[in-house]
Amino acid sequence: ESEAEEHDVVVIGGGPGGYVAAIKAAQEGLKTACVEKRGALGGTCLNVGCIPSKSLLNNSHIYHQILHDVKNRGIDVGDVKLNLTQMMKAKEQSVSGLTKGIEFLFKRNGVDYVKGTGTIAGEHEIRVSPLDGGEPQTLRAKNIIIATGSEATPFTGLEIDEKRIITSTGAIALTEVPEKMVVIGGGIIGLEMGSVWSRLGSEVTVVEYLGAIGGPGMDAEMAKTMQRILQKQGMKFKLNTKVMGGDVESDNIKINVESAKDGKSEAIDADVVLVAIGRRPYTAGLGLENVGIEVDERGRIVIDQEYRTKIPHIRVIGDVTFGAMLAHKAEEEGIAAVEYIKKGYGHVNYGAIPSVMYTHPEAAWVGQTEQEVKATGKAYNIGSFPFSANSRAKTNLDNTEGMVKFITDKETDRILGIHIIGPNAGEMIAEGVLAMEYGASSEDIGRTSHAHPTLSEAFKEAAMAAFSKPIHA
Ligand code: FAD
Ligand code: NAI
Repeated sequence: ESEAEEHDVVVIGGGPGGYVAAIKAAQEGLKTACVEKRGALGGTCLNVGCIPSKSLLNNSHIYHQILHDVKNRGIDVGDVKLNLTQMMKAKEQSVSGLTKGIEFLFKRNGVDYVKGTGTIAGEHEIRVSPLDGGEPQTLRAKNIIIATGSEATPFTGLEIDEKRIITSTGAIALTEVPEKMVVIGGGIIGLEMGSVWSRLGSEVTVVEYLGAIGGPGMDAEMAKTMQRILQKQGMKFKLNTKVMGGDVESDNIKINVESAKDGKSEAIDADVVLVAIGRRPYTAGLGLENVGIEVDERGRIVIDQEYRTKIPHIRVIGDVTFGAMLAHKAEEEGIAAVEYIKKGYGHVNYGAIPSVMYTHPEAAWVGQTEQEVKATGKAYNIGSFPFSANSRAKTNLDNTEGMVKFITDKETDRILGIHIIGPNAGEMIAEGVLAMEYGASSEDIGRTSHAHPTLSEAFKEAAMAAFSKPIHA
């Protein structure tokens, strides 16, 4: 065994939480190593999550648009054919470019990239089993940051093979378009990946246990609107429906479902079944038991407000601990955890973390939903503005069914939440996040000039609607 190397910070996991923490720590002058077992940096997000799914969403949207939408724009096209192999190659190109980019950033900032599985062996000791199968190595660390992320929650009784019974990892890598796809779970993964395969020609049925799609955190009015839009695009929904199990036969899969309301059962045929019922923290092989670090009943590593476990120099960030499982949330925590180590203080504003669902149109939101505000008992105003009345959305003939919705404090006009369904909602929400960071009122936004003709005028007019009246509706 080689001699133990001493680091100020060793980060376990090279996803958005881990790699950002490692770069930040190195920038702060701390001697830093990052241990990653995947063989590539970027974690779930870059390798099998955010990036490949958005590549497929973008390109399947273009395909769908050429098939169904360009004719009335005055563009006649000939034979349109899907080349799925090439679409997957385009995806792989984006992924490999970005993961290599992080490797470059590690070099530039002087982060030691250790390829292997890290196990916490002692309070200051990480044993690494190298990816290439060589001798285990020991790293010594003054501080440890755990950023081991999450994995798909399995569905008991349906064994994942990533070919016919798949998680999102299989859903970004299918080699042919299934005729019939059943999606278990109408959350973000179900709707994004369901959209991809629906656009490419699958008959997609989404089975959701609850009475609304969108997963936790989506405003009820937005969820309803989104469901209506996706239904028009051809996706089918079975809400309030429980999946009881499935029969996997050689040429067909039968998914048995039961209505949560009246107990009526039926079987849905599928060629491919996507299990998208949430993700769970990943701590296998991490060695938490060696140092007595605890996880809660959902497997999340327990930490305090400074990201410390009960061993204060072992901190935890990202999907493997509390909070939204989002890449940008993990990144903010990576920065804050390092600042705690270096300076003794750090901060993440959990009230202003945006969520984006990259369907078409996109859904994006920040702050509280209307149902959450209502539950607090606080008096509130709603200001909403439809894209059907926005000049740019009309000019672009781009999905004018969505809207911008502001929820404000009736007394102070302070913004409590912003919800958008529309083209480019994911970019537009940044303005809302900034407004909330600065404690803005809807009047602040309503009196701010927005360029004409842009989609963001709908944002301004929704703000105007919250404290006064919009002009164009
Ligand atoms: P991860 O990205 O999961 O990284 C953890 C890393 O740690 C992994 O690479 C793993 O190999 C490594 N690791 C684990 N244990 C060890 C060990 N013992 N030793 C060494 N290495 C180890 N979020 C968004 O914000 N926007 C999106 O558009 C989005 N799209 C998504 C689409 C899909 C299909 C999925 C599945 C997720 C998506 N997410 C998205 C969520 C996002 O991917 C996660 O929130 C994010 O990756 C969490 O970052 P993390 O650093 O906490 O963990
Ligand atoms: P999710 O939590 O968003 O949605 C899961 C859905 O499945 C919920 O609506 C839930 O009610 C339903 N469900 C649970 N058990 C069920 C059952 N037995 N039968 C039927 N329905 C059931 O989880 P999802 O979609 O798997 O995504 C996991 C996480 O990944 C997200 O919460 C998000 O944090 C992250 N992600 C983020 C993306 C983005 O930011 N654009 C994209 C994809 C994933």
